[in-house]
Amino acid sequence: MRVIETVDEMRAARRGWGERRVGLVPTMGFLHAGHISLVERARAENDVVVVSIFVNPAQFGADEDLDRYPRDEERDAEMAEEAGVDLLFVPSVSVIYPDGFGTWVDVTEPGGEARARPGHFRGVATVCLKLFNIVRPDVAFFGQKDVHQALMLQRM
Ligand code: PAF
Repeated sequence: MRVIETVDEMRAARRGWGERRVGLVPTMGFLHAGHISLVERARAENDVVVVSIFVNPAQFGADEDLDRYPRDEERDAEMAEEAGVDLLFVPSVSVIYPDGFGTWVDVTEPGGEARARPGHFRGVATVCLKLFNIVRPDVAFFGQKDVHQALMLQRM
């Protein structure tokens, strides 16, 4: 399993895969059985499986503690490798949101939770569209735990 951190390396890897079908599982890390089931589905339906790990500051509210979000990169890498992931994409915050970043994705009215968590869905949509543009997957896999998020991403 390759582990890469930069957009250039990710794009080069994608070019190298050519016409092979690529599945992406976007995550914020601290992998668990739910993520692994998405990886297994991606593995079964694609030639290449990419998992991204990025704790996305843009989807945390002012009263939600980004620093306390659980992280265990070593364990995540072991679990991903064991599950048959080909490439782990682990960009830093400055790779995803470089200085001067100011382009956001707003998906209109996915449901009630959008009102309860202002900014949250904008952060999710923005990071997912960035990941799609960087990784260029044929298909992406998301859990259904957060139904509002799933509907919003489907809409996007
Ligand atoms: O559901 C999550 O883990 C996150 O919202 C996602 C889709 C990886 C975007 O950061």
